[in-house]
Amino acid sequence: MGVMNRQVLLASRPQGAVTEGNFRIVDAPIGAPGDGEVLVRNEWLSLDPYMRGRMNDVKSYVPPVQIGEVMVGQTVGEVVESRDARFAPGDKVLAPSGWQLYAVIKGNELTKIDARQVPASCYLGVLGMPGVTAWFGLLEIGMPKPGDTVVVSAASGAVGSVVGQLAKLHGCRAVGIAGGPAKCDYVVRELGFDACVDHRSGSLQEDLRAACPKGVDVDFENVGGAVLDTLLALMNRHSRIVICGLVAEYNATEPYAYRRLRSVLVNRIRMQGMIVFDFKDRYGEAVRDLAGHLAAGKLKYRESIVEGIDNAPKGLIGLLRGENFGKQLVRLV
Ligand SMILES: NC(=O)c1ccc[n+]([C@@H]2O[C@H](COP(=O)([O-])OP(=O)(O)OC[C@H]3O[C@@H](n4cnc5c(N)ncnc54)[C@H](OP(=O)(O)O)[C@@H]3O)[C@@H](O)[C@H]2O)c1
Repeated sequence: MGVMNRQVLLASRPQGAVTEGNFRIVDAPIGAPGDGEVLVRNEWLSLDPYMRGRMNDVKSYVPPVQIGEVMVGQTVGEVVESRDARFAPGDKVLAPSGWQLYAVIKGNELTKIDARQVPASCYLGVLGMPGVTAWFGLLEIGMPKPGDTVVVSAASGAVGSVVGQLAKLHGCRAVGIAGGPAKCDYVVRELGFDACVDHRSGSLQEDLRAACPKGVDVDFENVGGAVLDTLLALMNRHSRIVICGLVAEYNATEPYAYRRLRSVLVNRIRMQGMIVFDFKDRYGEAVRDLAGHLAAGKLKYRESIVEGIDNAPKGLIGLLRGENFGKQLVRLV
């Protein structure tokens, strides 16, 4: 038998926390590209919190993965065979391949990437969907002004790390929230935030108050639950809350009961959800700016890597528990 594809399928829908039993790993023949299609050999798979949502059979901003289907996800990889004139074998591409080693993709769903200046994996992180989410979420919805205090949760992660560094580049005070001393230390020392507080310390409100002596002007919310509820008590008048993600709730069976909504009223807070796809036509703008900061050494990032497609389920389970430290990736080759 020749080279086979290896795929991770959704086997069952999780009740609460994701388990390895929710996935099934199979070998399958590698598909042949038809007209306008390209065969890609994937090198890196991105694991992202949104994948937890796709495992549920509920209405969301995109349809769920069906039982027996390949799990969704973005990859970067190399073109092996092309029946689209725009791509040739050897080209590096960003692809919506899902959790598998090979994928046949329509040419118009692929983006060519330049992996000579930066590692290809950057196109899944700092220069990819997470970086672009940080850029539009902060600049277009958070609308920070120089001197503002910007707080971001999951601050050492793929999105949060970019939000805080951009806030600094725009003249703001950047305060992170992260899980544990090692992440907090990294956020301040390596990423250059002004402060970072540990949401597991048991004194989150006091610690945040000390880190934000002038209150909070922008909350870039990645976590939700108790973190968001605590922040509501510290928001300034006419402040902004960007609801980017609620990862603390993704594995929960009951929605979190928020207690401080009154703060939105009395402080005239503008709270807005953001979905990065809404900015699809403008991704280039964000990527160019982020790439400039990266090249200038003003944007740092970190990756958390699990090895091999078979470990992708473990990687997602860990990501949803905060075990990743930086952009979570699966190395496929
Ligand atoms: N709206 C959009 O278009 C969009 C696009 C991309 C991402 N997002 C959202 O942005 C957020 C960050 O995504 P990312 O890819 O950058 O992931 P990430 O921050 O690299 O990883 C997730 C982090 O969430 C934190 N976390 C997990 N469970 C938690 C819990 N119960 N309580 C508190 N913190 C918890 C952990 O950090 P700590 O250990 O530091 O707590 C974990 O490392 C997610 O909510 C994601 O859904 C939204």
